[in-house]
Amino acid sequence: MSLLSVSGIQSWYGMSQALFGVDLDIAEGEVVALMGRNGMGKTTTIRAVCGLTPARAGAIVLAGDDITRREPFHIARAGIGLVPEGRRCFRNLTVAENLLAAARPGKWTMARVVELFPRLGERMEQGASTLSGGEQQMLAVGRALMTNPRLLILDEATEGLAPVIRKDIWRAIRTLKDEGQSILVVDKTMAELMPVADRCFLLEKGQTVWSGRPADLTDELQDRYLGV
Ligand SMILES: Nc1ncnc2c1ncn2[C@@H]1O[C@H](COP(=O)(O)OP(=O)(O)O)[C@@H](O)[C@H]1O
Ligand SMILES: [Mg+2]
Repeated sequence: MSLLSVSGIQSWYGMSQALFGVDLDIAEGEVVALMGRNGMGKTTTIRAVCGLTPARAGAIVLAGDDITRREPFHIARAGIGLVPEGRRCFRNLTVAENLLAAARPGKWTMARVVELFPRLGERMEQGASTLSGGEQQMLAVGRALMTNPRLLILDEATEGLAPVIRKDIWRAIRTLKDEGQSILVVDKTMAELMPVADRCFLLEKGQTVWSGRPADLTDELQDRYLGV
């Protein structure tokens, strides 16, 4: 059984349809890359999975549990941890408060998050608004982990971050993968994404047009679906 199975989902923003049939699935312990040029529906797919832009057609099943059109808090509780595009920490809380607010029982604790991102440990009592963009992204990942998710979703995992911070985020993703964490990740850095991904799904105009292993993602496919 798949951990997450998305089949034929369609989503709209008001009158405007954004997804026309997205299919994807993630097995337990798998790292899956969701790819496609800007505006092709990656974020909308993630929003549908998390219940933020509910799918109007199709089905989303998490570990056998139909979560299509459930409330976002219910989906989070069912085991999906989201690191949204553009981060979004609670800016008027401290780093520690941000982490504690998300905490649910499991192997991920503050101590383990600090082990993964030592920089956060030095800033526990600082307000989140005083963090650099990279530190905020670490906090966003830490917060999602504090919920002890069955599936971690990262939308634009390293976008807009300094190169040294990007390295930290990719290192963390590799560590999580080695621990068996299931991950769905969107990112534009192919050179980092491909080695860590077990499988990829390509979106074009709100539809899944290809899926397979990174090794099978030919130059032709890349030109056609990812080229600018
Ligand atoms: N809040 C919104 N309101 C209306 N249309 C939107 C909104 N967000 C995204 N869209 C549209 O939905 C489509 C898919 O966008 P998105 O899922 O953000 O793509 P991606 O994440 O792949 O860049 C695009 O045509 C985009 O313009
Ligand atoms: Mg996006």
